[in-house]
Formats: sequence, structure tokens, C-alpha cells
Amino acid sequence: MPEFLAGEGFIDLHCHLLHGVDDGPEGLPGGLDIAAGLKALGWTCIVATPHVRPGLYDPSDRAVLESLRDLRAAIGAGGPRVLLAGEHYLDAEVWQRIADGRGRPYPNGRSILIEISTAGPAPARLSEQLFRMRVGGLRPVLAHPERCAAFQDDTALLEELRRAGVAVALDLTSLVGQGGRRSRRTAERFLELDLVDVACTDTHDARELPDVEKALARLRKLCGDEALERLLHAGPTRIALDNPAPPAEVRH
Ligand SMILES: [Fe+2]
Repeated sequence: MPEFLAGEGFIDLHCHLLHGVDDGPEGLPGGLDIAAGLKALGWTCIVATPHVRPGLYDPSDRAVLESLRDLRAAIGAGGPRVLLAGEHYLDAEVWQRIADGRGRPYPNGRSILIEISTAGPAPARLSEQLFRMRVGGLRPVLAHPERCAAFQDDTALLEELRRAGVAVALDLTSLVGQGGRRSRRTAERFLELDLVDVACTDTHDARELPDVEKALARLRKLCGDEALERLLHAGPTRIALDNPAPPAEVRH
């Protein structure tokens, strides 16, 4: 674990390590391999973010909670800690679920991971929908915008969203080309322009972990230790874990 974290490790806000619920591991051993591999690289807390994408991956609460329970039991006290949220594909149905309070926000109840299609222009109502979430008390955290044509073509759109309070979650492995050359260049540009709030692994399979390790080294080389602390520890803590929202019944 890097020394500057003083006992605290990295926190992953985007990871598909729950088995049998989406395109992550099929069985518990695959989830355990991801957890052990990320722990070895310095992560002490992983937020599992199964896809919420009706028609493709839309696991029930029960399935997700059973998978989480089994994984936690198998990991045991040695960690890493595994917490739960979801990666929400922003179509009309998912938008309605979130608006109705039926999404899977981050553990503090104040932010939520959102993805859009990697192809094509931004959805027509994207800015408005993200803004309405923010006003409603949920800060949108945009998954891997560097992989989305809408943001590769239009840095100004991402800047506008950030000014409106949207957080940007880079996929670390974009820095070593996992999403293609264009994603890699866009990721580097977003870092240069200081448009990134957190960096995540988005791991689906333990075979991706060598790329995660290379991407950590690349991020350190590009931006220094301070960026690792900010994007992998302080940012995730502030956005997804700290300052939990009060229970819904006393919210105004
Ligand atoms: Fe993902």
C-alpha cells in the first residue's frame, strides 16, 4: 500500500466483482480473485456496482444481496471491504426508477453512478436529467466519459456538467488503452484539464488486473502521488462514503 495513504487504502467506486448478476464473474471464485488482486494492489474498499440496464442486465435486489453476502463471507475479516451500489444506464426506465428513489446509490445515499452509451451523441435530455438528480439530492457520478463518443467529441459538454455538480469517474485502464487509442488520449486530456474527480477500475474479470497495475503506474507517472491520493482515496471518500444522508423518512 502506498505510504502516503497512512494506513488507508484505495477505494474503488466502480467494479463488477459480484458473481452471477451481470457481465462480471460467473461464480464466487472469480469475484474472490478480483477482490484479492485489488487488495494486493492497494485497495481496501471496493464498491460493487452491478449494471442496472433493463433488457440486458437487471438483477433483482435479492440476487445482488445474496451475491454480496456470499462474497463478504468468503473474503472474511482480512478484507477488502465490499460495499454496494449500482451502475445505472440512463434510459427512460432507469431515469424513472432513480426519480422514484428506486436506484442503487452509493453508500452515503448522496451520489449515484450513471453511464450512457459509448456510441453516438449524448442523450437529448442528459444535462437536464443530471441536473434534476443533483437538485433532488443525488450527485451524478459519470462512468468512463473518456470512452463515450459524446464526450470525446465535446470537452465543453463535460465541463458544463461538472460546473453543474456532476462528478467524473475515469476508468483507470483507459490510460493503458483498454478502451482503444481514442479513449486513452481523451483520458489523458481530461487529466490535463483537471476534469477528473475519481479513478475506478471497472474490473469485470481478474485477468484485467495486470492492466490495472500498469494503469496505476501510468497515472503516477502522469500526475504524481498527489493524484493517486486525490483520485483513489480522498475523492471517492468525499463523493460516495462521507456525510451520509439522513434516512428518507426525515428528509425534507
Ligand atoms: Fe461498469
